[in-house]
Order: sequence, then C-alpha cells, then structure tokens
Amino acid sequence: MTVRQLQDKILQLKHDTDTCILAHSYMSEDICEVADFTGDSYALAVKAKSTKNKNVIMCGVRFMAEMVKMLNPQKRVLLSNSAAGCPMAEQMDKELIQQVKGQYPDYAVVAYVNTTAELKTIADVCVTSSSAVKICRAIPAQNILFIPDINLGTYVKEQVPEKNFKLLSGGCPTHAKINESEVLAAKKAHPGALFLVHPECRPDVVKHADYVGSTTGIMDFAARSENKEFIIGTENSIVQHLQFAYPEKAFYPLSKDLVCNNMKVTTLSDVYHCLTGDGGEEIVMDEETRLQAVKCIEEMIKYGG
Ligand code: 13P
Ligand code: SF4
Repeated sequence: MTVRQLQDKILQLKHDTDTCILAHSYMSEDICEVADFTGDSYALAVKAKSTKNKNVIMCGVRFMAEMVKMLNPQKRVLLSNSAAGCPMAEQMDKELIQQVKGQYPDYAVVAYVNTTAELKTIADVCVTSSSAVKICRAIPAQNILFIPDINLGTYVKEQVPEKNFKLLSGGCPTHAKINESEVLAAKKAHPGALFLVHPECRPDVVKHADYVGSTTGIMDFAARSENKEFIIGTENSIVQHLQFAYPEKAFYPLSKDLVCNNMKVTTLSDVYHCLTGDGGEEIVMDEETRLQAVKCIEEMIKYGG
C-alpha cells in the first residue's frame, strides 16, 4: 500500500469512527497531513479541550495523551504508540518534589507540561514552552519552584527578574545535548541565516538566538520573517515541515543529532491500527488523580490564554 492509500483509509476511518487526530509538530509530514490539528504542546492542550468527537488519537508522547484525557474524561483517548514516552516527563517523581516542597514551603510549584499526571497532582500551575514566561509573570506567587527543565527554567528566570526562582536539574536529553560550538559552526556555515531556538536548549546555546520560542513560535517566526535563511535549533522534523511549507526559503538543522527518538516511534501505520482497533493504548486514569492533576492545566489555560 502506498502512503497516499494508507492516508485515504485513515481519513475514511476517522470519519466512520468519529475520531479526532491531534499531532504534535514533531510528528512526520505523513502523520501531520491526516491530523485534524497540529501544533505545539500548548495549542494541543487548548484544542483537546474543545474537540467534539467521541474518540481522540494523540500522536505525540504519553504526557500529551494524558493531558487530553484530563481535559476530556468522557472521551476515549488513545496514545497512538504506547512506547512513546518523554524521558524528561519521567525524570522526577512525586516523592522527590514533595520533599523539595517541604524545604521551600512558600514557593509555588510551576511544572513544565512535560511531566506525568502523577506529578501534576502536586503542581500549582503548568506551563508550556510558549506560555512559561507569561504565566510566571501573571501568577500571584512571588517565589517559584520550577520543575523539571533547568534550561527552560533558566530562560524564564532571566525574562522574569522580578520573581525568585528555585530550579532543579532536569531537562530534555535531545535539546540539552547541543553545545555552543555547534551553534558557532552553524552560524559560520550560514552567515546570513537567523538562528531560531527552543528554550529547552542550554543557556550557552540560547544566548546566540535571534528568536527563542516554542515549536509553533519558531514556525510562525520563520513564516513571517523577511529573511530567507534560518538555522533551526529544535527537533529536526521542524526543519522538514518548514522547508515543505516555504520552499522559497532555506532551513538548516542546528545539528543532525536534534532528533527525538521518542517522538519518532510513532508511524502512520500506528495511526491506522489505532483506528482499526488493533493498536495504540487507551489512556485510563483514576478520577481522583485526574481531578487533582487537571487543576494545574486549567490554571495554565486561564493564565496563558
Ligand atoms: P513545545 O511543544 O512546547 O514546543 O515543546 C517541545 C517539546 O519538547 C515537546 O515535548
Ligand atoms: Fe521529551 Fe525532549 Fe522528546 Fe520533547 S523533544 S518529547 S521534551 S525528549
């Protein structure tokens, strides 16, 4: 079967089974083409709240599917490939954060959305990469315990100097492995290019950026900019999507290593098998966990909207 034939079957099944497909922008082009909605973590969370269909398939990683379930308990939510986890989301457990909270009782826990549902139950508010600065400024708390990403936390701390931050040393293994020498080499190779970077990268990488933002932020900036060349400092699927959408511009990966293997486990066949009932994993969450965890997502949408 060709990709096109498989996509046609998926579109038909989606209609027949009243299913909505959400795809994070790190998914491959063939999956994004059959999705009802693509975007960054924040956009997907907001969209998840308003989907009308009975069934939702999340093409992304586990914490994203959990977020859809938290916001839509009445819907059947499937993670398209059950092996798709996010290592950052699983770096810190509830016991560790409760212990740290005990040391800083007057700090509000601000959790990057890349956390498990269990960890979200003890967070005061969630943030995504596109909403973190805005939300940390907007919440009433003066003291913030930011978990788990130290790179995003460092970036937010610099943008919000009026507040006090405590950071823990977690982060995204994909973005954090890029170093400053790779930025300098890419800039030397492409002197006319603007450098657009995700805040999950290290501060010595981020400091060279012409623009810092989420996946969607980077894509929107590249679309609007008069510039013709860009070095993309986030997952390499964004380079492909941008090159496809804007063939008259040139997009260069910051590093060939900027590939999230966790996002790459999901294939178009997985999406098909979810729709036929032969694959994927239904997200099941006990109501007590859901009710506690959803509060910080609702707070995020309230302050970030
Ligand atoms: P955004 O979707 O907020 O850009 O985050 C990127 C990411 O690493 C998702 O896991
Ligand atoms: Fe997790 Fe990083 Fe992959 Fe995003 S890019 S899913 S944060 S490992």
